[in-house]
Amino acid sequence: MPTLVIVGAQWGDEAKGKLVDVLGSKADLVVRYSGGNNAGHTVIVGGKEFRFHLIPAGILHPGVTAVLGSGMVVCPKGLLEEYDRTRAAQPELGRLAVSKAAHVVFPYHRTLDALEEQAKGENKVGTTSRGIGPAYQDKASRIGIRIGEFVHPDVFRERLREVLAYKNRMLQLFGGEPMEFEALYEEYSAYAERIRPWVEETDVLIQEAVASGKRVLFEGAQGSMLDLDCGTYPFVTSSHPVAGGACLGTGVGPRAIDGVIGVCKAYTTRVGSGPFPTELLDETGEWIRTQGHEYGTTTGRGRRCGWLDLVVLRHTARVNSLSGLVVTRLDVLSGLDAVQVCTSYRLQGREIGFVPSNTFELAEVEPVYQTVPGWSEDLRPCRRWEDLPAAARTYLEAMESFTGVPIAAVSVGPDREETIVVRPELLWGG
Ligand code: IMP
Repeated sequence: MPTLVIVGAQWGDEAKGKLVDVLGSKADLVVRYSGGNNAGHTVIVGGKEFRFHLIPAGILHPGVTAVLGSGMVVCPKGLLEEYDRTRAAQPELGRLAVSKAAHVVFPYHRTLDALEEQAKGENKVGTTSRGIGPAYQDKASRIGIRIGEFVHPDVFRERLREVLAYKNRMLQLFGGEPMEFEALYEEYSAYAERIRPWVEETDVLIQEAVASGKRVLFEGAQGSMLDLDCGTYPFVTSSHPVAGGACLGTGVGPRAIDGVIGVCKAYTTRVGSGPFPTELLDETGEWIRTQGHEYGTTTGRGRRCGWLDLVVLRHTARVNSLSGLVVTRLDVLSGLDAVQVCTSYRLQGREIGFVPSNTFELAEVEPVYQTVPGWSEDLRPCRRWEDLPAAARTYLEAMESFTGVPIAAVSVGPDREETIVVRPELLWGG
């Protein structure tokens, strides 16, 4: 199983960073395939905390090539800041490669992100305001500037002049200030100079790695429920966090993918707006937020918290064809007498077992819960399946049987060691 995709199986923030780090240490290539610096992965290595938004966490391993794939949108300033910060904390890093076909995020994208949100009023998406949506809009409108053009001074000058004239009209339409060409060109040309040595034909690099049987880890960002097509549209991001996105955003076909690991929390969280059937607006929700330190890595916003939604999990198991589940933050639930899990929805008097694709219907559903016994033990010292309390094992078994996906590992704390590997064969040996 040399190629693996890691995806978020809920609304993002499933604590994928640790798994990506552990598997990244065994990979030849670690590849991000969608999104931009709206993502946030926290990795703790040797007591040091690293925060990544754009660069695959695999860069911490000197033998690894960390790739920013063609499906991404890249903020050059953010990339350089992140690289310099990581390098200062750990001088020896893996190699960085940036796709020529990835798109560049410019300041006008960030400004338009904020202005569009304002214009949406009550229906705002609650974006991370990193300009991600507007950058993908430009890609779909076929006016985006790609990294390969960006690092070519003459081509960049010409493209920026053309696009900025258009964007300035948009900015003014939304009540914003137009941006000055020369200042923007000068600032961004300096970033391009530094980024140029990393830029290459990453699709070919990845295709050749796959063909020669190297280990390639495709690092998903965000979560499947935030996917533009498979998620809760329009309260989604503008890219494809699902496993299919790993093909679209790196240049390989579906048969190049050997396994897909879905990461999910033992409960559910969401940031930004949009329906969330199992959300808890009471003191239990507050308790989960406090116990789990549920605040965003990218924006610092408090996350909305709720019970585990198995209907959502089965949906994401199917759209990603998951081969294994990694359950994170099981330790957070310790101390509850009883835990609820949602096993179906009630919609207009009917019971349904799927996520309706009309988001206005999902907003209306009432979750149907099953109550299962909780546990009080501290799970952080547990290292083997047998160490877990019986109630926690029953909870995990219910996740497996409902989704039909075997549990590969369980995380019981932020440290690398605080992990129970249940089926190492699903995870390159664990
Ligand atoms: P955007 O990706 O900034 O356009 O935001 C669109 C939606 O996706 C908002 O609800 C964001 O809160 C959400 N989102 C984007 N990135 C992440 C992430 O890494 N974790 C969780 N939610 C995210």
